[in-house]
Amino acid sequence: MPRTFIALRSVLYVPGSNERALKKSRSLAADALIFDLEDAVAPSAKVEARALVSRIVQERGFGLRQVVIRVNVLGSRWGYEDLMVAAKSGANAVLLPKVESGDMVRQAEMVLVGAGAPEDLALWCMMETPRGMLHAEEIATASPRIRAIVMGTSDLAKDLGAAHTKERLPFLTSFGLCLLAARSADVAIIDGVHLDLEDDEGFSRTCEQGFELGFDGKTLIHPKTINPANRAFSPTEEDIEQADRIIKAHNEAVAKGVGVVVVDGKLIENLHVEGARRTLLLANSIKKLEKNLSG
Ligand code: COA
Ligand code: MG
Repeated sequence: MPRTFIALRSVLYVPGSNERALKKSRSLAADALIFDLEDAVAPSAKVEARALVSRIVQERGFGLRQVVIRVNVLGSRWGYEDLMVAAKSGANAVLLPKVESGDMVRQAEMVLVGAGAPEDLALWCMMETPRGMLHAEEIATASPRIRAIVMGTSDLAKDLGAAHTKERLPFLTSFGLCLLAARSADVAIIDGVHLDLEDDEGFSRTCEQGFELGFDGKTLIHPKTINPANRAFSPTEEDIEQADRIIKAHNEAVAKGVGVVVVDGKLIENLHVEGARRTLLLANSIKKLEKNLSG
């Protein structure tokens, strides 16, 4: 179970150079917002975008949602300054692009710490290159600050020479490696984007597939996809009621010193109790986010 359980069903990229979109994101029901200084920003707009994102984040107004800044890679012209600014911006996390080794994570962390980053500034890692996939485990465990792995399927398809297909079979090995790494390191993992904004049906299908594979949520590029993603990655009312029944029955059994618990005619084991706790924590996090947005 992740260390601090927060819902990350819908994670929206917002171009760091688009002031209107950045401001609009304050009213959007995404669980997390990634203010992008990397691929969504043209080289000529990088410096301006950095200052704009820093200002918008410092002005706050994002409530309980996670605010994440995606920086440029450390070896690029902008990466170092991006980290310096992100360190003190008040963002919840910094998303490192194209992570390929544990050393890359630690180098970025050193810059952030040197720039005065607070203890609770989290690191999220983009997994989007073949080398990154082969080092998924060392990346996911490179720092205790790492809280999420984000799949970058567009860059991955390019580097693999693979196609974007309906069933996404070309990505399955990479998904598997990253899911294993994230779960064994106890960090969240978010699926890649669906590029075709006109394809609502395909979007829903990949959300379902992502949920079945074990992702916590999906990265998004347009606000209209937030609600469908939230629905796809939320527990149902029935899931929540069943989780409640399992926890109650388990607690009663523990109090009475009884070893075997049966709920709805099924034997309950510790793994079911753990799953039920996770469902209730997720439901609780969702409830808080919804209340925060409407309040
Ligand atoms: N975040 C926040 N707001 C967004 C948004 C986003 N990613 N995408 C669109 N919006 C806003 C628009 O500003 C517009 O707001 P308004 O009604 O107040 O003017 C509204 O949602 C409707 O937008 P729409 O006209 O349908 O889209 P668009 O033509 O403005 O933008 C894209 C389309 C694809 C350019 C835009 O969605 C986008 O830039 N997405 C993010 C791309 C990205 O970050 N890529 C890198 C990671 S893969
Ligand atoms: Mg990328």
